[in-house]
Amino acid sequence: MKLTERDEWKVLERLSETVGAQHLRELFAEEPGRAERMTTEACGWRLDWSKNRVTDEVMQALLALARAAGVETLRDQMLAGERINITENRAVLHTALRNRSGQPVRIEGEDVMPGVLAVLDQMADFSAAVRSGAWTGYTGKRIRNIINIGIGGSDLGPAMVYEALKSQSDRALTVRFVSNVDGTHFAESTRDLDPEETLFIIASKTFTTQETMTNAHSARTWLLATLSDDAAIAKHCVAVSTNAEAVAAFGIDTANMFEFWEWVGGRYSLWSAIGLPLMVALGPDHFTALLEGAHAMDRHFAEAPAEANLPMLMGLLGIWYNNFLDADSHAVLPYDQYLHRLAAHLQQVDMESNGKRVDRDGNVVDYQTGPIIWGEPGTNGQHAFYQLIHQGSKLIPADFIGFCTTHNALSDHHDKLMANCFAQTEALAFGKPPEQVVAEDTPAELVTHKTFEGNRPTNTLLADALTPHTLGALVALYEHKVFVQGALWHVNSFDQWGVQLGKELAAKILPELDAAIEPDLAHDSSTNALIAHYRATR
Ligand code: F6P
Repeated sequence: MKLTERDEWKVLERLSETVGAQHLRELFAEEPGRAERMTTEACGWRLDWSKNRVTDEVMQALLALARAAGVETLRDQMLAGERINITENRAVLHTALRNRSGQPVRIEGEDVMPGVLAVLDQMADFSAAVRSGAWTGYTGKRIRNIINIGIGGSDLGPAMVYEALKSQSDRALTVRFVSNVDGTHFAESTRDLDPEETLFIIASKTFTTQETMTNAHSARTWLLATLSDDAAIAKHCVAVSTNAEAVAAFGIDTANMFEFWEWVGGRYSLWSAIGLPLMVALGPDHFTALLEGAHAMDRHFAEAPAEANLPMLMGLLGIWYNNFLDADSHAVLPYDQYLHRLAAHLQQVDMESNGKRVDRDGNVVDYQTGPIIWGEPGTNGQHAFYQLIHQGSKLIPADFIGFCTTHNALSDHHDKLMANCFAQTEALAFGKPPEQVVAEDTPAELVTHKTFEGNRPTNTLLADALTPHTLGALVALYEHKVFVQGALWHVNSFDQWGVQLGKELAAKILPELDAAIEPDLAHDSSTNALIAHYRATR
């Protein structure tokens, strides 16, 4: 049955006209214990979802819709290793990568855990060798620089986690992430480094991605310019991939390859060997704690009742705004500078997963799917785009993420940071009514300008500290939130066909840019003119 024809959908449409029109001021006034009742804790996180424009009736209706749409069934199928990525005929088992239960995880009878644990051991041995200095460069110098070359899921997750946990990393190592095919990225990331002390991790699930292969070739050239011997590559380049053949063809000894599997989606791969730069930078214990945090969230997602299930709650609240209150985007606002790449990672997790307009049966949907995800750390965002969230004409639900303690206790910085975090959610929810603006002796012509309508919904996620464990749980929470929404919308959250066309056209245009004789351009008039102008000017 079509989602929009379900009774549960129609109930929610009706509720959007009643509850959707109620103000958070009223909802809080009606129930003094609202915050306590609408705070849910799991895996070191405390989610206060009381500042959402919902009632019990709305939450029950959302849950009923999720059940009718088979969200829990699909979740169980995913965790059981069924091939729920139907367009690629693959299982979806990033949860196996962080399975710390000692229990097997099977795809069609075959336990994937021995392979997962063997690669984790290989990663731990390698990182111990690099961290101790036992693994040296070709000339015997200690490795002091780690450069990860990868893009998308082979970059964003590890880069985000590295930044997040930098305070717990080996500060003697310089760790950088090169992703863009723009040569500037490679050049600026290597210009101050000594090739004799530099190790490249070439990370690509397919080992065919244009950007990564181009940067990898430039890495080889950069290394050989100093080391002058092909044999040096084995000491300065390792690979992370599912494609051993392509790794060998590139010239990397497959003994220096860290494997993962087709059932690990790129944007869900930071828990696999794609996390190798993290294992090296943080050490095996911290990497294991990251996996443990994610595993705890996996258990919570699988076992907690839907009403107290963090991914379910956050997913359903998002559905409410996206499908019934016309919100187009969702902001992620971490009040922690270490999380400055979180929104970028979640953009891929969410938008590459649920940016689909065709459902699992191949039908064009008649409802909104994945939201636009964006965000920056607080308090910076407050001085940039919060104006629009507070007083703009768009509804933008937001997640505020903070910690009760800091890794950098500098006078009263942390209290100021968190005071701002709490103040923003208060201001967004309750606003400032015109009566109050008038009472502040505001000139009449400024009253509407200074009025805050409020009723802007937020979640607040708080943990004691930013640790590998809490970070692992947080990222897994968002992964499962995205799962809940994709399952409810009946889209396949695990393919990404939408990225192909641009890649194909770029491959066609590339030789046209430097062909010796003027190519016969057969694009549209705009693209033809852009190519011609570039050829004439480059
Ligand atoms: O182009 C999108 C994408 O396929 C992502 O899904 C993926 O994370 C990224 O490219 C990198 O792919 P790979 O790891 O195969 O180089």
